[in-house]
Amino acid sequence: YRKAASAAGLPTFVLVGPSGAGKTAFTMLTERGTVPTTHTSTAPLSIEALLPDPHIPASSNYRSPGDPAFERARRFIILDTPGHGKLRSYSTNTLADPKNVRGIIFVVDAAAIDEEAGLNEAAEYLHDVLLSLQKRYTDAKTSKGPKEIPVLVAANKMDLFTALPATSVKSKLEKAISAVRNNRAKALRDAGAKLSGEDDVDEEKEWLGEGGEGSFDFDQMREIGTTVDVVGGNVSQGRNAGDVAGWWSWIGEQL
Ligand code: GTP
Ligand code: MG
Repeated sequence: YRKAASAAGLPTFVLVGPSGAGKTAFTMLTERGTVPTTHTSTAPLSIEALLPDPHIPASSNYRSPGDPAFERARRFIILDTPGHGKLRSYSTNTLADPKNVRGIIFVVDAAAIDEEAGLNEAAEYLHDVLLSLQKRYTDAKTSKGPKEIPVLVAANKMDLFTALPATSVKSKLEKAISAVRNNRAKALRDAGAKLSGEDDVDEEKEWLGEGGEGSFDFDQMREIGTTVDVVGGNVSQGRNAGDVAGWWSWIGEQL
């Protein structure tokens, strides 16, 4: 009880991404420092963690370890969600009402991205996550817009020799998201034409990023206050913990 009460209101990072990407493994590594055997998740899991040394919360750059404000700033929550296509309502619901959400971490298997099926699944899911952030932004009543929610694409499994480097993961995802965006728009037009003969579907609202003929890139999300960083890492290395310093450092920048 006490733990739940004290954890209330802590900044939350939501882990999303395809099944098998390594979300639960990363959650465990962050909570305990070790990587146990994981099984595909069927329910969301929320854990409280401390930003590990030597990472520093951006808000307390000038404070020192031991200072109560520094120690408080290191605390955060990870909300791990199931990646299976049929269980995504958990993450969709959280993203629709992102109270306390300080950032979204989209975990992908950087080796799976090299195959068409893996790439398309990741691109469709990431497209939908970004579109829900865009809708939240454009629906907001305040003229200033809601607080920006940054996205980290955590390109995992860099220990595998088949893993693509982070720069390729980025360009492949951008290209595949361009295709998803075109396909969705075409499907909407077809559905609209069938329904009424008029184009009354709010196409613009369903279009991710900049309009026009150009292709999609993550920088287009800046317009809605969302930065997208793609950073490589590996949760595990054989049976041991791997290297996710880049992701913890990204979390620290948001704290
Ligand atoms: P769902 O719960 O189904 O959404 O999947 P998940 O994203 O939670 O995946 P999970 O953390 O369960 O990891 C899936 C598998 O990938 C497990 O067998 C992990 O041990 C393995 N795995 C995770 N991280 C790495 C990594 O960095 N390198 C390698 N080689 N395997 C990893
Ligand atoms: Mg899982």
